[in-house]
Amino acid sequence: TVEIEEFAPANAAQLEEYRIRFLGTKGIVKDLFEQFKAVSPEEKRVLGKVLNQFKQLAEAKYNEFKDGFESEGQNGAADIDLTLPGEGFAVGSRHPLSLVRNEIIDIFKRLGFVVAEGPEIEDDWHNFSALNFPEEHPARDMQDTFFIKKEAGNDIALRTHTSSVQVRMMEQGKPPFRAIMPGRVYRNEAISARAHCFFHQVEGLYIDENVSFADLKQTLFHFVTELYGEGTKVRFRPSYFPFTEPSAEMDISCTICKGSGCNMCKYTGWVEILGCGMVDPNVLENCGIDSKKYTGFAFGMGIERIANLKWVIRDLRLFSENDVRFLRQFKTEI
Ligand code: PHE
Repeated sequence: TVEIEEFAPANAAQLEEYRIRFLGTKGIVKDLFEQFKAVSPEEKRVLGKVLNQFKQLAEAKYNEFKDGFESEGQNGAADIDLTLPGEGFAVGSRHPLSLVRNEIIDIFKRLGFVVAEGPEIEDDWHNFSALNFPEEHPARDMQDTFFIKKEAGNDIALRTHTSSVQVRMMEQGKPPFRAIMPGRVYRNEAISARAHCFFHQVEGLYIDENVSFADLKQTLFHFVTELYGEGTKVRFRPSYFPFTEPSAEMDISCTICKGSGCNMCKYTGWVEILGCGMVDPNVLENCGIDSKKYTGFAFGMGIERIANLKWVIRDLRLFSENDVRFLRQFKTEI
């Protein structure tokens, strides 16, 4: 009885030993009941009571520990040292293009721009015609565009720019519009360090009454100041896009050498970061918007280019190869 009372198993194995010793088919309890058969009837009355108490005590002890060990598993789980530190989870990092895209979105969101998206497989109308591309414009050429289906007047292709989303947005809603449209675009180029058959753009569109070129300049100036810091200079060069008039390309003072000359800016001190302009009235009319009442600006930039200027990434292919030695370096970025 004392042995049972003092018994305190440390694990399931010890408890099992105990069970076999006292409660097993060849155990002590069984044996005592066996011997009990041989005693006289008078003795049985006294002994029977004692024996039953002993059996209950042995069983109670077993039941007391049984549940605890069962929930810890069968192999003596108490052997596991719960104070040991656990194994760490491998945490990934955000892709540099996602980091830059999110940063661009955040800046424009604070100016009241919403985010919109459109399909990567587009028809001729949304990618070209509605955007005022003449029938014979070279950008429609097989050289640049991945066509999926050639059909007189209604080609289906992978979009070559996010400007197609502008058209979808203007067709579907009513002005004013103030949106940015990030997404992947495709061009038929041989893959090298400087070109890829796909890349990423962020398109911007602002249409309302009395929007002017001054609004365009101020918005984009604010944008680069937020992105690259106070003191970043901008300059606009006249350019041409079928869907904007006037059109411009915007350069910023080189973020790497700050104008003193480096590889990145080819020793000019300036790097081009986007195309922009006032939305051509033809485009507004193509999308069912009254071009007498509304004006607006649009711009489009390559996310890879913006990322290159941030981290000096010299090979575009790094962005799509998923080499963790590259990706891991962006762990500390948010
Ligand atoms: N879609 C043009 C491009 O891919 C960029 C652009 C967008 C220019 C909007 C002007 C206005 O080069």
